[in-house]
Amino acid sequence: MALPTINPTTSEAWKKLQAHYEETKSTHLRELFSKDEERGKKFSLLWNDFYVDYSKNRITDTTLDLLLQLAQEVGLPKAIEGYFGGDLINQTEGRAVLHTALRAEKGDQIFVDGVNIVDEVFDVKAKIKSFTEAVISGEKKGYTGKAFTDVVNIGIGGSDLGPVMVAEALKFYKNHLKMHFVSNVDGDHVHEIIKDLNPETTLFVIVSKTFTTQETLSNAMTIKKWFLESASEKYIAHHFAAVSTNLEKIDEFGIASENVFPMWDWVGGRFSLWSAVGLSIAISIGYENFDALLAGAHEMDVHFKETAFEENIPVILALISVWYNNFYGAETEAIIPYTQYLSRFSAYLQQGIMESNGKSVDRAGNRVGHETGTIIWGEPGTNSQHAFFQLIHQGTKLIPTDFIGYKKSLHGDVDHHNKLMANFFAQTEALMNGKTADEVKQELESQGMSGAELEKLLPFKVFEGNKPTNTLLIDKLTPKSLGALIALYEHKIFVQGVVWNIFSFDQWGVELGKQLAKNILGDIENSEIGKHDSSTMQLLHFFKG
Ligand code: F6P
Repeated sequence: MALPTINPTTSEAWKKLQAHYEETKSTHLRELFSKDEERGKKFSLLWNDFYVDYSKNRITDTTLDLLLQLAQEVGLPKAIEGYFGGDLINQTEGRAVLHTALRAEKGDQIFVDGVNIVDEVFDVKAKIKSFTEAVISGEKKGYTGKAFTDVVNIGIGGSDLGPVMVAEALKFYKNHLKMHFVSNVDGDHVHEIIKDLNPETTLFVIVSKTFTTQETLSNAMTIKKWFLESASEKYIAHHFAAVSTNLEKIDEFGIASENVFPMWDWVGGRFSLWSAVGLSIAISIGYENFDALLAGAHEMDVHFKETAFEENIPVILALISVWYNNFYGAETEAIIPYTQYLSRFSAYLQQGIMESNGKSVDRAGNRVGHETGTIIWGEPGTNSQHAFFQLIHQGTKLIPTDFIGYKKSLHGDVDHHNKLMANFFAQTEALMNGKTADEVKQELESQGMSGAELEKLLPFKVFEGNKPTNTLLIDKLTPKSLGALIALYEHKIFVQGVVWNIFSFDQWGVELGKQLAKNILGDIENSEIGKHDSSTMQLLHFFKG
């Protein structure tokens, strides 16, 4: 069944939310907290080892009721059924959207074109397991009989961001193999990586759903050429592995079938780390940990699918984000993990969220009359505090922010962890409360300041507060909890796409630049430059010197 095409702005809930926004927009969070002692408890959810506090948002019971009504009016319950059931909800590409099937349990049944894809998923998982174990144990060797020491993942977009983010996030659990990730078509990226590698002991994993992506193929060819400077052609078969839906192209590259991992068109690139696209993850942390990552995601899938919306973490976070995006006009959202391990998390989510919901045509093919996808950005705390938090605290823009932190650190340094987490809690409290003119006055007076001097400085030291945050406090960064965290955001993307009446699972917007780049490459390589606007023309002449 297709997703319904309901313009959210015509729903009763939307109209009521608009009126409710006008009534409540100037209410301060301080006021909401002082009126209700139980607010922190009331607006929080405990699920497995996740504690999600969404009380520091500009919401009341009415806001939530209306947002939940909106979810019903846009047909979210049926949409969720279609999403998990394999309906062709990626309508512009005629595909199902089944990354959830990649973490299904053995014995589950999900059918695509009459085939139970869970069986296929488990066949590929078995292959990932044996391949991974052979590489880690050293049983699988390079062409001179030495065990592999380095692994290079060659891919871009979803074929890079997921693997590199998770490999970094779960570094604590990693083995002896050194991981490298090449993505950019910038030759300096690939050459910088291969310059220190020994071809005898390096395994290359080419990841490309289509196997036609310019960046990935250029990097793979450059590496192949470099490899052939030391080894003969026949060794390509075993020094390279490939993950793709395009088995024909892999064959042309010369990779042995035991090193080839299929994927399916019902998995979108940006949701694919759970498939063999995650081969580098499995190699880096071992198959058991990779499987635990999948298990965590599966638990979140079950939570999302089966929990009433008022207690459903992805639904609640998605709806609150709609509230700011569509009623407050907030254009961006920051995601701030308080762990250095998640340093690539917001870059990963930028693709997931912005490639999915960066759409301006609705599901009926008309231009939308409301805002859609939010701009996502962020860096780990506490570094971000010393970089851009000033603007979140005292700038003119409203930036709803997710704070993600852990009860336990991985290396167990209590002193550091307490300091880190003190900052974590302090920031959300400061963003919420701010500092009033009276408080600033008292503070300055206690420092001995008074009169005109005090009055002059006072306005600069006032913090408005009332800045919304969500706090995700998780027990510990483990493969399992990371899987659940990623799946949480995946489902948030889905919910928002349904509400905004857009197709979240295509990405036509990245095609135009690719097409033009092909033409311009001809202009650069040939003596003649084709027809362009005067700016591009001038730039090309200048570039060609
Ligand atoms: O940037 C567009 C895109 O199609 C992404 O959606 C995808 O993750 C990336 O390119 C890489 O594509 P492929 O895996 O086919 O090389």
